[in-house]
Amino acid sequence: MSVKVLIATDKPFAPVAVKGIREIVEKQGYQLVLLEKYTSPAELIAAVADVDAMIIRSDNATKEVIDAAKKLKVIVRAGAGYDNIDLQACTDKGVVAMNTPGQNSNAVAELAFGMMVSSARNFYTGKSGTELKGKKIGVHAYGNVGQNVGRIAHGFGMEVYAFDPFMTAEQIKQAGAIPVESVEKLYEMCDYVSLHIPATEKTKKSINYDLLNRMPKGGVLVNTARKEVIDEAGLVKLMADRPDFRYLSDIAPDNAAEYAPFEGRYFFTPKKMGAQTEEANINAGLAAARQIVNFLEKGDKKFQVNK
Ligand code: 3PG
Repeated sequence: MSVKVLIATDKPFAPVAVKGIREIVEKQGYQLVLLEKYTSPAELIAAVADVDAMIIRSDNATKEVIDAAKKLKVIVRAGAGYDNIDLQACTDKGVVAMNTPGQNSNAVAELAFGMMVSSARNFYTGKSGTELKGKKIGVHAYGNVGQNVGRIAHGFGMEVYAFDPFMTAEQIKQAGAIPVESVEKLYEMCDYVSLHIPATEKTKKSINYDLLNRMPKGGVLVNTARKEVIDEAGLVKLMADRPDFRYLSDIAPDNAAEYAPFEGRYFFTPKKMGAQTEEANINAGLAAARQIVNFLEKGDKKFQVNK
């Protein structure tokens, strides 16, 4: 029986990316199965029953899903953040979990600027706005997406600062930003803060009232990372206490209804859109397919995240 590869995407890839994945998979003599826009975890659980490999996006690969995938050997998150995969469940079952770092990062960075320009121009309502040129942007975590944000910010004529606990000041400088020694200082200095931290036990709810309240008048928080890193109650309190503050997020917070009084100072995408471009889908989707082939054929575990 041929190797079965499942693409399980609640939010589908562009058709051109699916075509590219299919070519890679079928060239290898594998079979491709597609589950798109599914509406319940049960559908995903049923679809994984006999697959050897799977490609997902923000889809929830819970313990239940991993346990139901009796033949699964490798799961690839076509994207950066893998907080949606139960890594322990994968390890327990000997399943290799991977991501495709960097493949969709330009798309996410471009969306951050789309939201910033839109907000600076008061969402194109005709009301006079502001410019990004000359403003200070603080990039919170200077990895693949953060560095793309830095690159684009320079084009806008912004001053680019960055804080990253996993990089030295020299590395941050080399990658084009001015290093800032503490997260508090970053927020104190910058008109815009763009978040690029992963959602981990340590970072969840870490972007809180006290940190955000350090931002100068007219501060804007841009979140293309994860909603889980925000202390949502704290941010709503800040929006109420500071009529100058704005929040732009790629995906609505769980308490979105509480933002009604702050009309004109917030923007939420209806669905997570950062990586939703043809280019990002092709880059991440095809990388995922190649990683599956390389793992199954040669045992290549380069992008494994559950070591
Ligand atoms: C990522 O972690 O790669 C991004 O958040 C994109 O997620 P998506 O594939 O669900 O759009």
